[in-house]
Amino acid sequence: MKIDVKAFAKLNISLDVVSRMADGYHEMLMVMQSVDLCDDVSVTVEAGDGIAVSTSLRYLPADMRNIAAKAAGAFLARAGIRGRHVSIAIKKRIPVCAGLGGGSADGAAVLRALNALLDTRLTVRELEEIGAEVGSDVPFCVRCGTALATGRGNVLEDLPPLPDCAFVIVKPQFAVSTPELFSRLDCAKIRNRPDTAGLVDALRAGNLAGIAHRMYNVFEDALPRGREEIDAIRGELLDNHALGAIMTGTGSAVFGLFDSYESAHGAWKTLSGRRECFAARAVGKYEV
Ligand code: C5P
Repeated sequence: MKIDVKAFAKLNISLDVVSRMADGYHEMLMVMQSVDLCDDVSVTVEAGDGIAVSTSLRYLPADMRNIAAKAAGAFLARAGIRGRHVSIAIKKRIPVCAGLGGGSADGAAVLRALNALLDTRLTVRELEEIGAEVGSDVPFCVRCGTALATGRGNVLEDLPPLPDCAFVIVKPQFAVSTPELFSRLDCAKIRNRPDTAGLVDALRAGNLAGIAHRMYNVFEDALPRGREEIDAIRGELLDNHALGAIMTGTGSAVFGLFDSYESAHGAWKTLSGRRECFAARAVGKYEV
């Protein structure tokens, strides 16, 4: 039995780090959006044992360190399933170490795929709970759509979809280590924070300009290097009619918000000659 599913990237429309918790993780406050930039994930289940994973990028782990394999293991354990061999093949399109949740998206796609293949009929909420065991962003990548994320990033509240808009996502040359960036952040010293309440109000009002105006990511101010490139990309996106542009997650990818796909595509055409970039649309909430 085999199924093909899409693993959608996520963007942080805003990202705030509220505090460092006793377990070393950080309490987050983020507005998240899934987009149609995606990896293709094929999952096959046969009689047998074990979990195998392969990806189109040779340098990614092809063993239980891969979040997709971890998700499969957590799913089988939770559903109490034995005597099944799971093989996962991932065609990567989402840039890695970019703050786009690529690994989390692959894990979430595996959870959805196994739920369908094995006819286990777990709810989206149950899949999110399993996802939280393997990574903080996995629950959002299961749910998709537009959401306010708190806790480690795993506590989700649906928000209304963004008004009509599109994105251009640009991947700088340098990559960022998520744990390193978290460790550099001193929550008490964060000077500028996003107006998350104002952003949520703008979303509820369907006010795209108001949303763009409030996009902000506190990690931009904590980058150990590469800030100039982030600012240069932001400038290029704004020069090409983005309403706002920020880094997503712990970076290094930067995205611009546009008022139409045509406008985003125009910017993509201009930038794509010299930068790795993608035009993308918003993806709505996942329903089983
Ligand atoms: O949960 P996940 O495995 O994706 O997190 C990767 C790393 O990011 C953690 O080991 C931790 O260093 C950091 N992190 C954090 N606070 C969060 C989420 C992640 O400190 N809320």
